[in-house]
Amino acid sequence: MAFPPQFLDEIRARVPLSDVVGKQVRLIRRGREFVGLCPFHKEKSPSFAVVEDKGFFHCFGCGAHGDVIGFLMRTENLSFPESVERLAGLAGLQMPEQSPVERERAKRAATLYDVLEEACRWFEEQLRTPGAAEVRAYLERRGVRSDTVERFRLGYAPDARSRLIQHLKGKEVPDRLMAEAGLAVGGEDGRDAGDRFRHRLIFPITDRGGRVIAFGGRTMGDHPAKYLNSPETPVFHKGALLYGYALARKAAHEAGTVIVAEGYMDVIALAQAGFAHAVAPLGTALTEAQIGLLWKMADEPILCFDGDSAGKRAAFRSVERALPLLQPGRSLRFALLPGGQDPDDLIRARGKQAMAQVLASAVPLLDMLWKSRIEGGRFDTPERRAGLEQELNQAIATIGDTSVRFHYQSAMRARLREVFGAARRANRPQERRMGQGGGRSAGRRQGGWNQSRWSPPELEQRPSAPGARHEDDPTQRMLLVLPILVPGLLERVAERLAEVGFAAQGFGAVRDALFEAAMSEEILDREALERHLTATGLSAVVRRLLPEAGRSGDDPVLRVESVDEGERLWHHAFELYQHHALDEEIEADAAAWAVEQSDEAWQRLKAKQELKQATEARLLQAEDDA
Ligand code: UTP
Ligand code: MN
Repeated sequence: MAFPPQFLDEIRARVPLSDVVGKQVRLIRRGREFVGLCPFHKEKSPSFAVVEDKGFFHCFGCGAHGDVIGFLMRTENLSFPESVERLAGLAGLQMPEQSPVERERAKRAATLYDVLEEACRWFEEQLRTPGAAEVRAYLERRGVRSDTVERFRLGYAPDARSRLIQHLKGKEVPDRLMAEAGLAVGGEDGRDAGDRFRHRLIFPITDRGGRVIAFGGRTMGDHPAKYLNSPETPVFHKGALLYGYALARKAAHEAGTVIVAEGYMDVIALAQAGFAHAVAPLGTALTEAQIGLLWKMADEPILCFDGDSAGKRAAFRSVERALPLLQPGRSLRFALLPGGQDPDDLIRARGKQAMAQVLASAVPLLDMLWKSRIEGGRFDTPERRAGLEQELNQAIATIGDTSVRFHYQSAMRARLREVFGAARRANRPQERRMGQGGGRSAGRRQGGWNQSRWSPPELEQRPSAPGARHEDDPTQRMLLVLPILVPGLLERVAERLAEVGFAAQGFGAVRDALFEAAMSEEILDREALERHLTATGLSAVVRRLLPEAGRSGDDPVLRVESVDEGERLWHHAFELYQHHALDEEIEADAAAWAVEQSDEAWQRLKAKQELKQATEARLLQAEDDA
């Protein structure tokens, strides 16, 4: 029960802590404190202090700390209410009245637990009777060992109208309680109540402490409902707990993760195969409360889904559910099983190694979010790509935690740029030759979106273009160096900078690092930026970029005096860059048109030529202005 805080304060004020402690520890007054030998650990010289006017004790040896209520709880092994009651007696205080509702609830819950435990024992017993031979054979066929039956307390509800009810009646359980425990159905309209579970294999469901609070039952006949659960009762709220939680807890701690399957049999098969850290929701999609429970067990629970389309849809629903809840360090991982299989099937068909492999290849939530938005789609026009970007942004906007949201934004941008950048770059001769680009982008452009796993390319490991003719391209260098040198410029140009496909080795990585810095909402001066770049492992590239001391007398970037001037210079460089890029694209489009002779190719070519003319006009204008 909850005590009013004033009542607890009153107790603390009335019962001198040193009196209570003094009964068990010899205390010596020292100034305003008392000291003595600590009752919570063995010691020879006193490091235990009682600070009377603050109302607490503290041991400098073992760190034990608390108030008078806590002292009694620990030394006399009392519960909190028991300790409060004892002290209230010492203080001559009347215990506050429990409200009638509270009293009733506590009493009823206690008896409900008793009834449920009794039913559980009875079901277990039934599984051992001759009448359950067929069910035992079924378990054997499914490979469930007898130690597993015991561990999960599996039972059997016989094929009879009211055997459990009769049994409980014999134990003097009132009808009302049987109904409330969810064990009896009907019986309202003068007819006798019947057992809820009949001819079913019984899976007891426990609370976090392992107390039985409900049952799930799998039909052993041809009942249309394969599985049946207890209804919601005063002690059972199925969205707030997970099947197997109490048994999996310790194993999850040891394994550092927890596996989430879909069904009872999966949890059981997993545990039997050595994955004791497995749980399942109770026939519904994961709720917020269940995700919270999972995070009590591990930072990155692994959700298993069937790799077929229904399984994937379920996985995607979990993604949406989890996004608003993500916290720094806390996420979910997703393991998709070979089509049509659940963990139980997989383990039986291909053994625990196969299961271990599936778990090891679980992908992060980010990948699953990406997959959910690209699967089945085609992103071969700018509008479609923009649509995809918008959808991803909308999903990311639902992330509640600012920092996680920020990192999702930058990771998604990087991915979009990587994926579509690759398609775009395929038109650019000098970049097409770079690294792993070719094969991958070709696959994508043919609609090869189904890779189950997307892994980010190592930007720094890309070999640079043969001959690297852009290494010293002053335009490209300026696009990077200006935002580093001119305070306040980065924020203004970051979005565009993100689009630039750099040729020189390492420049792309600097672009990404700068973009990330710009997204961080912190004001970054040159030093902070350089620190950030160095921390990202890019100091060598940055040295190459920055003007060398002494040898840079006429470097235009050093003559920039204001952020506006810097921005003008940057945009000029950007247009030059676009101009070059456009040239190369036009070359490619012209070649494509020569082959295809299609209307579409022609339109594309014409649009680019117009764009090029417009850019040229602007560039000439800018040069006149300068
Ligand atoms: P499945 O139909 O996938 O069953 O339901 P399963 O676990 O593979 O069972 P077996 O292998 O056929 O014995 C998965 C979970 O969905 C819930 C149950 O919690 C089940 O474990 N469920 C399923 C229901 O609640 N009711 C149903 O009718 C079916
Ligand atoms: Mn199954």
